[in-house]
Amino acid sequence: MKITGNDDTLAVFLESALVGTLYNDQPLAFEYAAAATRALTPEIPLQAGKINTSFVHAFFENLLPEGDQRTLISLRHHASSVFGMLAIIGGDTAGSTVLLPSGQLPQPASYQRSSWEAVNALLHGGDGAAGESGELAGGSESGPRLSISGAQFKLLVSIDPDDNPLLPLGNSPSTHILKPDMVRPDIKLFASALNETIVMRAAHLCGLPTAAVRYRREVKACLVERYDRYRDVAGVLRRHWQADFCQLSGKASDIKYEADGGPTFAQCFALLRTHSVLPAIDQRNLLRWLFFNLYVGNNDSHAKNLSILATPDGPRLAPFYDLMSTRIYAGLGKQFAFQIGGENLPGKIGAPQVQSLATSLGVTPKYLLTIAGDMASKVDAAVALAANEIGQDLSPAELVMAGRLQLKIAGIVKQMRARML
Ligand SMILES: Nc1ncnc2c1ncn2[C@@H]1O[C@H](COP(=O)(O)OP(=O)(O)O)[C@@H](O)[C@H]1O
Ligand SMILES: [Mg+2]
Repeated sequence: MKITGNDDTLAVFLESALVGTLYNDQPLAFEYAAAATRALTPEIPLQAGKINTSFVHAFFENLLPEGDQRTLISLRHHASSVFGMLAIIGGDTAGSTVLLPSGQLPQPASYQRSSWEAVNALLHGGDGAAGESGELAGGSESGPRLSISGAQFKLLVSIDPDDNPLLPLGNSPSTHILKPDMVRPDIKLFASALNETIVMRAAHLCGLPTAAVRYRREVKACLVERYDRYRDVAGVLRRHWQADFCQLSGKASDIKYEADGGPTFAQCFALLRTHSVLPAIDQRNLLRWLFFNLYVGNNDSHAKNLSILATPDGPRLAPFYDLMSTRIYAGLGKQFAFQIGGENLPGKIGAPQVQSLATSLGVTPKYLLTIAGDMASKVDAAVALAANEIGQDLSPAELVMAGRLQLKIAGIVKQMRARML
């Protein structure tokens, strides 16, 4: 059967279990299969009949890439709707959702052997468009049918035991996300992949649960290990369910920032109370993440960069991902993703705002300021250590980034300490 993306229904699987049907209705509608035993999210509970709530739209819409990446897919595959794009690239998504044309079943995993040279060409190839995800995002029955959300171009890969890259085919699960340097025609950005690797490693060194990353110098990309993939006892690669905080709040990806109507920090904090089996630990980590982002100058810490992950012990706040210093690039947004005590300009966030945040979260100012102080005491050294770890052999632009990051972050921490602590 040829995949055209024009069929009116898609079969929806969680891992390999059929859970229901997605209808090409306006608004999008989902219906659980009679035999379904698992809900897509707690906000879309098992029930009979079609469901077309904002939670259904948000759950599926948030599986797609955003912005320019979505536009590219749309142009290349002549699919303009969320449904049409999911029909083409919904075979492997964040978490365990697999979308297939009705009548098809998930196929055993298969991969195309590749090399780091070939991956380099895919990431940085030729006219700049050759490596765009649309090229790799399928449209044929045997080709890749992969969709990872987010605004930046990335490549979904798997890695064999000899450290060679494999390109997943069909609905095969990927195990890693390769994030090359961001390219924006309107803003001068440089070495963002190194920036992200250093900041992610620094988060780990500060004790935050963080996705494992490595800088792949030969392809100038941050290689992120997927925490939603694992091997079962038989060695078969499996998927863990996850949902981001936009999906769980019923918000489409274009309102991920609080300023656009997206979830507030207090709402994200409250989501952990209802969704995590260990809310106290996860809420504390969320607070530590908040201050880490303020200190490293990451203004992009919105609700789509937080997820709930189904662990073997129950749902928990997923390891943190997509951490970088955005403030190092003059052209990127100057506002922090969340308001802190009514303020979203990082340079104006001080003790009164933190106290007001504490009140809105129902924690004591002393508790919040202790967390802020503890993180402030760790960040500088962690960034320096993370930069050193990457080692030598960096290009001049990468060396400049490693040096600037340390200076920038040390400066921010000093100023924030003075205002907050
Ligand atoms: N390590 C990871 N394991 C599993 N899923 C991840 C991981 N990192 C990111 N994701 C998922 O992929 C999406 C896009 O990744 P992200 O790094 O946020 O890209 P972008 O920079 O484009 O926003 C995230 O919203 C999340 O759902
Ligand atoms: Mg992101």
